[in-house]
Amino acid sequence: MREIRSLAGMQRQARGWQRAGTRVALVPTMGYLHEGHLSLVCRARQVVGPAGVVVLSVYVNPTQFGPREDLARYPRDLQRDRRLCREAGVDVMFVPDDAAMYVREPGREHSTFVGEQVLSAGMEGASRPTHFRGVTTVVAKLFNLVLPEVAVFGAKDFQQAAVVRRMTRDLNFPVRIVVAPTVREEDGLARSSRNVRLSSEERAQAVALREVLLALRRAVQTAGGAGRTAGALGRLATQCLERFPLVRLDYVAFFDPETLVPCRRVTPGCQAALAVCLGQTRLIDNERL
Ligand code: PAF
Repeated sequence: MREIRSLAGMQRQARGWQRAGTRVALVPTMGYLHEGHLSLVCRARQVVGPAGVVVLSVYVNPTQFGPREDLARYPRDLQRDRRLCREAGVDVMFVPDDAAMYVREPGREHSTFVGEQVLSAGMEGASRPTHFRGVTTVVAKLFNLVLPEVAVFGAKDFQQAAVVRRMTRDLNFPVRIVVAPTVREEDGLARSSRNVRLSSEERAQAVALREVLLALRRAVQTAGGAGRTAGALGRLATQCLERFPLVRLDYVAFFDPETLVPCRRVTPGCQAALAVCLGQTRLIDNERL
């Protein structure tokens, strides 16, 4: 496995692959890799085959964190990431140099951002107003640096995948977006780099996300075609959370999985997403109802 840090070096290599007709898949990550990321690597390999190359980027992107969010506390362990990448058959680990990604020199600071305007407005975008602008900006930069044919994202970040897909279409990036299923712990908690920050009491109550989503699914399935109102399901979610005093609900949302337009009447096939805080840690999950 090779490790590339320089942006010019990455772009040179990407052009070389392009000239040689080598298929390239990108798995963008913020590091502190877990089973979920490794499943994205497997999916990437399936797409490009043994003769293609899988690039995994590790970059804790500062522009997607708000001023009061956990950028400084985001878990990092590059040594471990290297080992996991090697074991998973990653060809190139791209660890872009932060100072080069976002020039900060006074008077010539980075000042170009990519913003999707519609799908990023609600849910995560409402709770974290500059988050998706940071995600679309860094993903556009990574596409220009790695020149992949395909990029693989996780379904846990449902809205992110929709926003990235829209940005890719709107800006004509020649990249296919693949979304791979969420990988879960045994009790159903979605794998996330942030899970390590939970205390043991918080970790025990983190199963609440899954329990709420499954209760919502049961309620919607039982109601069938008539569905339930979003208001009634919101109350059901709050009621389920009463058993988990450490869990604070940020939002629960019901929406069309393609357009992300909120559903007032929630029927089977609608998507539900929720965000909660446990202590200092914010977790999200989603489910097709
Ligand atoms: O999902 C993530 O880890 C990040 O948002 C991404 C896509 C790597 C962009 O920084």
